[in-house]
Amino acid sequence: MSYFHRNECRVCKKGDLTRILSLGEHPPVDNFIEAGKEQEEMRYPLDVYFCNTCSLVQLLDIVEENELFHGEYAYFSSSSKPLVDHFSKYADDLKKRHTLKSDDLLVDIGSNDGVLLQFFTDTCRVLGIEPSANVADIAREKGIETLDGFFTEKMAKDIVEKHGQAKIITANNVFAHIDDLDEIVRGVKVLLSDDGVFVTESHYLLDLIEHMEFDTVYHEHLCYYSVKPLCYLFERFDMEVSAVERVATHGGSIRVFARKKMGKPIESSVAELLSLEEQAGIHSLSRFVDFQKDAEALRDKLVSVVRGFRKEGKKVTAYGAPAKGNTLLNFCGFTGDDIAYVTDTTPYKIGRLTPGSHIPVVSPDILKTETPDHILLLAWNYRDFILDKETELRKRGAQFIIPIPKVEIV
Ligand code: TMP
Ligand code: ZN
Repeated sequence: MSYFHRNECRVCKKGDLTRILSLGEHPPVDNFIEAGKEQEEMRYPLDVYFCNTCSLVQLLDIVEENELFHGEYAYFSSSSKPLVDHFSKYADDLKKRHTLKSDDLLVDIGSNDGVLLQFFTDTCRVLGIEPSANVADIAREKGIETLDGFFTEKMAKDIVEKHGQAKIITANNVFAHIDDLDEIVRGVKVLLSDDGVFVTESHYLLDLIEHMEFDTVYHEHLCYYSVKPLCYLFERFDMEVSAVERVATHGGSIRVFARKKMGKPIESSVAELLSLEEQAGIHSLSRFVDFQKDAEALRDKLVSVVRGFRKEGKKVTAYGAPAKGNTLLNFCGFTGDDIAYVTDTTPYKIGRLTPGSHIPVVSPDILKTETPDHILLLAWNYRDFILDKETELRKRGAQFIIPIPKVEIV
């Protein structure tokens, strides 16, 4: 078995943890498999815990990194146009907040296919760090220098020796992937210049809980952040959260700015969001007591809707094969009998089977000639974009089933 169970909180190191959601055993959601290899698939527990000391919501069953992020990693940030637009705007925001000179260095941890760094190549020096070689190669083809491997304190020292310290370090949708946060923050402290800023974007717990986005729970996502435990984490390293922003990506995310303590004022956004979290109750266990029941109710409703259509002889397919879609498909127990196929724009995924549910992934081109009766929108975070893009398909009679935050047919 290549997973282990951790007994202490990743941020505060205390052991007072309560399980708030159990989704059963799931295969890693980005391991799209080839037909014939279904038997080789491993499943691991997918349980979410709340830390009663620092309020961090997290997974404690850790699948080995090499099983999750490898030479065949299926996630390419640039596959979704709205996400590329998001990173373009993110780059503009960073440039407005921080004046970058041409010899300043920007380092992106988990740089994927260079989706953020590509917007800085004319502004300053950029360096990506990406453990999945197939994804890193795409960034290199765009001319973005990219280091292989996982970011560590040792790697930070090597970078400083070769390139100097960084003015900005970013880590988007990867800070939640890290088991050993201490190692990362130590590395960030080494790499970051004294006037530099570390910026992370992660899915936001407040959005997750308020909009029932429980499908975003999967083995790669070890932490479901709110501002409170992040303040606690940086404090332990004599750093501080200096500003926070809510952004719309992935169903609602937080962008967190952290820096070395230099006695500079903290933006009011930090206290404001902390107070909002407190009011919403996400710093206490009681807010999560119905989480399991609510997730199961949504699942039961979705299963009855899809199987109801199938009983009527209707053809049901799915749209988008994001990682979270696999949590949802597997939690519902859907198979190819329920969902005929999933369409996705990512070339890597096309021709493979979804992990666990083993539904074929096909090119969206099929929807030019075929009109399914119902299409389950797994990429619900792009709801408006996709409903708009597929106006013609909907005119032909296809109805979309939106699963999150509640089951809805449009
Ligand atoms: P993401 O939510 O993690 O960005 O993943 C979205 C997935 O959905 C990704 O595999 C690409 C796919 N997708 C489509 O197939 N069609 C679309 O129009 C969009 C926006 C995404
Ligand atoms: Zn804790």
